[in-house]
Amino acid sequence: MMVSEKRAFVQLLSLYLFIQFSVTAAKFFEPFNVTYDHRALIIDGKRRMLISAGIHYPRATPQMWPDLIAKSKEGGADVIESYTFWNGHEPVRGQYTFEGRFDLVKFVKLVGDSGLYFLLRIGPYVCAEWNFGGFPVWLRDVPGIEFRTDNEPFKREMQRFVTKIVDLLREEKLFSWQGGPIILLQIENEYGNMERSYGQKGKDYVKWAANMALGLRAGVPWVMCKQTDAPGDIIDTCNDYYCDGYKPNSPNKPTIWTENWDGWYTSWGGRLPHRPVEDLAFAIARFFQRGGSLMNYYMYFGGTNFGRTSGGPFYITSYDYDAPIDEYGLLSEPKWGHLKDLHAAIRLCEPALVAADLPRYMKLGPKQEAHLYWANIQTNGLNNTLSESQSVCSAFLANIDEHKAATVTFRGKSYTLPPWSVSILPDCRNTAFNTAKVGAQTSVKLVEHALSPKISVPELVMTKNEVSSIPESWMSVNEPIGIWSVNNFTFQGMLEHLNVTKDESDYLWHMTRIYVSDEDITFWEENQVSPTLVIDSMRDVLRVFINGQLTGSVSGHWVKVVQPVQFQQGYSDLILLSQTVGLQNYGAFLEKDGAGFRGQIKLTGFKNGDIDLSKLSWTYQVGLKGEFQKIFTIEENEKAGWTKLKRDATPSTFTWYKAYFDAPDGKEPVAFDLGSMGKGQAWVNGHHIGRYWNLVAPKDGCSKSCDYRGAYNPNKCMTNCGKPTQSWYYLHWKRTTYRGHGYRQQTIYL
Ligand code: GAL
Repeated sequence: MMVSEKRAFVQLLSLYLFIQFSVTAAKFFEPFNVTYDHRALIIDGKRRMLISAGIHYPRATPQMWPDLIAKSKEGGADVIESYTFWNGHEPVRGQYTFEGRFDLVKFVKLVGDSGLYFLLRIGPYVCAEWNFGGFPVWLRDVPGIEFRTDNEPFKREMQRFVTKIVDLLREEKLFSWQGGPIILLQIENEYGNMERSYGQKGKDYVKWAANMALGLRAGVPWVMCKQTDAPGDIIDTCNDYYCDGYKPNSPNKPTIWTENWDGWYTSWGGRLPHRPVEDLAFAIARFFQRGGSLMNYYMYFGGTNFGRTSGGPFYITSYDYDAPIDEYGLLSEPKWGHLKDLHAAIRLCEPALVAADLPRYMKLGPKQEAHLYWANIQTNGLNNTLSESQSVCSAFLANIDEHKAATVTFRGKSYTLPPWSVSILPDCRNTAFNTAKVGAQTSVKLVEHALSPKISVPELVMTKNEVSSIPESWMSVNEPIGIWSVNNFTFQGMLEHLNVTKDESDYLWHMTRIYVSDEDITFWEENQVSPTLVIDSMRDVLRVFINGQLTGSVSGHWVKVVQPVQFQQGYSDLILLSQTVGLQNYGAFLEKDGAGFRGQIKLTGFKNGDIDLSKLSWTYQVGLKGEFQKIFTIEENEKAGWTKLKRDATPSTFTWYKAYFDAPDGKEPVAFDLGSMGKGQAWVNGHHIGRYWNLVAPKDGCSKSCDYRGAYNPNKCMTNCGKPTQSWYYLHWKRTTYRGHGYRQQTIYL
């Protein structure tokens, strides 16, 4: 009895093991090891030159992922890179989410399925223009916590999250040695920029983070970016526009470029940055020319900051980044195509690049130089019997002159090099690619074509309290000004914004009552002064109401407020609405940054002196009524008491708008033009598209033509001057069905 039971168990076990093995092995790769030497990552025993494409999975929808990965592969990527997003995965402490846009495992598996490798930058601080740099806002409330330093509560929380991620990936067999795509991990992010602010504790924290990461035994190497003191087994890597001069802190580590900034992000009211592809290709060719081995595009696809995920303050909803694949998932030409050609040329050089330990340097002119990779390699002869020796040779010829072309002689042959360019010679003789010569795809502008089916959302024009061009189908609900629910509370004094909202909403209402005497009124008239609200420092947006009337608006990042206000005699309600527009994602001491008001807050100009508002009793209310009623969801919106919007309606300061429309047929991306709106948030069928704000970029500072030559900075080659920074908002969910209405769409804007 015992024996047969045991046998049955053994059979079951072996069957189970067999299935496991065949599924894993067939799906991704045969298990392989990843190590490194001074020259490169060593993948399955071979040094590799790798091109990596940065795609942040929650900045796209899961429906877009396969296409984005396929386009990266077709563009010549070997690796897909992403951060993880702690606040997306653990919105409430201890409650993890790995679903929808946050389905990390699915994303990594799709990458593995397509035969690409994965670089996962866990952080968990990530910066990334992402809300609070990826930190969950509840982390501020952990007693005694100080972020990113040698602080026990912080280290405990960080270790818990990083362990959770590594364990999850291991369980899902996603590491290379398990046959998965993950070849490399990152701990922390650019801590080197902050370390000095933390003194000795910062240094200790770096060591702790490194040991903690290594202790998780993930079985693949770890990097730390911009970390010159990265300890022993951790590879320090470069993030910059150019990394060709970069040397890691040990001769045993390879040169890796974790962030090649191929564009840049922007803020509401900012211009749109553009990095010319000739310069980008130059930077990449120079990197491989001078010994680099892995380059990751930050970003290959930037995507969208959905909902309230945008960091800040003030970063816009689009995270297009001027990346080779644009926000809509379309190829941005000529960037994508030119880089594809570059990747192909580098691929042709790979045998020589990995075989030679060091390049041979040759000066070709005052600002011209060559690096030649040459080696004898052993290849198997016929029938694997004899080993033959074959020589491989590849070269890069660079002209770093920003103005002039140069003709150089290299190994007896003459080459003409345009200014600020590199020619790639995979056989040390013939030019396969020059970074400044963009191929035939230059003129193809797919973005315009694909956006033509942009639906014209019925225009809402809100200027000087007028509403025009409103179609019959628009409905509206006014949002109350001030305290709207029993969930308010009263407190003697000023509370810090985030301590109250916990970032569950951008909005925090503060209400107090001010008494104005006859004598005050006379005093103001006689002296021709008006009372003034003065706040030492404020972020991000403040709206001031007196008795329900909007009196003033201020926006900025820790700016002083000096706002004249008008009072009648008697009691008045003074309402301050403080708003965040993306929490700080960069800098030291993030846990102390907070939002709302700092320093003194007072009303000046009263007969009996200033009124110290921080001493008064304030009633607080988090968020808007519509937000908490979930007015934007398919289930709840009907309950909101919508009324038809009339052409001559005078909008209140805060209004919810709703309309139905049919999305156009076809697969082309569709965007809303919200250029006529003010500031708010938009939803479609319950999906939060993001914040919108119709701020206009300065008129000047854009150049008509963009000269690719010379070192790039984000102020070079700006576009979009004098226009709203963002007026198109990508409708990712145009195919969501709504209660049997087929593809009928419902939009709600605030
Ligand atoms: C880097 C940072 C990234 C991102 C980038 C700018 O310094 O590591 O996360 O913020 O800057 O886009």
